[in-house]
Amino acid sequence: MLIALLPGDGIGPEVIAQARRVLDALAIPGLTYEEALVGGAAYHAVGHPLPPETLDVARRADALLFGAVGDPRCDALERHLRPEQAILGLRKELTLFANLRPAKMMAALTDASALRPEVAAAIDIMIIRELNGDVYFGEKGMRTTAGGLREGYDIMSYDEAEVRRIARVGFETAQARRGKLCSVDKANVLETSQLWRDVVIETAAEFPDVELSHMYVDNAAMQLVRNPGQFDTIVTGNLFGDILSDQASMCVGSIGLLASASLDSAGKGLYEPIHGSAPDIAGQDKANPLAMVLSAAMMLRYSLGLPAYADRIEAAVDAALAGGARSADLGGDLGTVAMGDAVLAAL
Ligand code: NAD
Ligand code: IPM
Ligand code: MN
Repeated sequence: MLIALLPGDGIGPEVIAQARRVLDALAIPGLTYEEALVGGAAYHAVGHPLPPETLDVARRADALLFGAVGDPRCDALERHLRPEQAILGLRKELTLFANLRPAKMMAALTDASALRPEVAAAIDIMIIRELNGDVYFGEKGMRTTAGGLREGYDIMSYDEAEVRRIARVGFETAQARRGKLCSVDKANVLETSQLWRDVVIETAAEFPDVELSHMYVDNAAMQLVRNPGQFDTIVTGNLFGDILSDQASMCVGSIGLLASASLDSAGKGLYEPIHGSAPDIAGQDKANPLAMVLSAAMMLRYSLGLPAYADRIEAAVDAALAGGARSADLGGDLGTVAMGDAVLAAL
């Protein structure tokens, strides 16, 4: 089984190195790796954030392990050359429409949550974020108004097939969990969201065993910190899911903890932490590698059919944290490599 390794920028290569150490330690038979340039690293080397060679490896691979992209030196480039286009391009080119972002409170970490321990203790949420549509992929541009003002625009839209396909993932995910699905939208203002809500309700007929609720995104942001234990599975659009998942990360302790899977309809996936390239701490051995390590576990579970190995990684992360391993984002002083050491020791 071929894994495409895409380290990218900033802390991407630092955290992916730790995930690779963990995978190597498991000595899983039949895994091979091919590394490729992506993001700012690819732009600086060959002039494009998602070169054809990288897309080729990505297509051939059974699964992709992705670090992070984003480089402040590229922020003034034309948009199609910016590092972020690499991850957006991979999601679109490979039709990775279903983004799974689990946020679960780990027993050892209630002290690290931004919430009071009794509020944080109950968190076990799966955020299902649509990844191929929404305002991310609509027509966008800069123009001049009749009054001579510069105007930026980004069209937000979903068609019903896009909503139905992600709604089904939401219902199926809820079915395999605690049977509760909360669809998050902004149907009180946006037509995109009205269609979203209508189609989610239609789709519910296929899943009579799932309890469906709806929440406006502003309320959902509030409820996530007021009473996050009320949520089981959340299904939402691309933009709202991006924002709510960063917020959920602080509810369970740190953005350095949240892993993700981005899946197509056949189960092929790209696995990445939800965080970015963190330029403020890049190259300083400060990044928490656990989100990346846990992303590798999700890869073994969701794309490679190796759940027992995934369990072992997750148990090792739990044990390392229970043993007191803490990077700076968790209030400790272990560096990236030392956090990797702690996981390896627990393995
Ligand atoms: P970020 O997630 O990179 O960082 C936000 C804050 O969280 C920073 O203070 C950072 O130091 C901290 N942080 C992030 N990951 C951490 C980790 N593993 N351990 C400890 N601390 C961590 O978000 P940002 O600063 O808004 O964006 C930086 C760049 O990353 C931008 O170019 C952005 O576009 C890009 N980005 C890429 C992805 C991706 O590749 N999927 C995701 C988000 C942001
Ligand atoms: C994420 C990131 C990306 C997104 C950016 C880098 C394009 O924030 O993966 O959460 O907005 O989807
Ligand atoms: Mn994000």
